[in-house]
Amino acid sequence: MLNAKYSVLHGGEPTGNEIAAWAEVKTLFDEFADADHYVFAIPMWNFNIPYKMKHYIDVISQPGMAWGYTPEGGYFGLMSGRTAKVFFASGDGYGEGTGFEAFDFQKPYIDLWLNFVGFDRVERVIAQRTLFEPDAPLVK
Ligand SMILES: Cc1cc2nc3c(=O)[nH]c(=O)nc-3n(C[C@H](O)[C@H](O)[C@H](O)COP(=O)(O)O)c2cc1C
Repeated sequence: MLNAKYSVLHGGEPTGNEIAAWAEVKTLFDEFADADHYVFAIPMWNFNIPYKMKHYIDVISQPGMAWGYTPEGGYFGLMSGRTAKVFFASGDGYGEGTGFEAFDFQKPYIDLWLNFVGFDRVERVIAQRTLFEPDAPLVK
């Protein structure tokens, strides 16, 4: 599958065993791409997204499917016409003034990925400090 990916990246076509592997990836991508509006529920795990979500992103974010590249124009997303609402959850808070802004690889990564693959509009809903009482003071 990786060899197929690198063949496509270099402007070629999958060959031999790569053909079936690439077809399997295309099936998974098509399943993901078959919607206009998406709802994601993403908890923070060790400052990032859960590994299963990252694995899924790694499988479906393929050249010629989710995104493209030209030497002249650079990278471009192929998933335009789609919108998303993302529910982010975290045990602590990472917003401005918390002192933990730089620890947050969850929201910036998902925002960047959805933008990279070309989503038109992304709305965020943030449920933070879920491991604390509502009025618990911030610990820095
Ligand atoms: C493996 C694991 C790692 C976690 N790591 C963090 C973390 O780095 N920072 C944080 O604020 N919360 C962390 N949490 C807490 C969850 O983000 C928090 O409980 C969140 O509300 C879970 O969302 P859910 O209830 O939708 O599953 C972690 C939870 C688990 C299970």
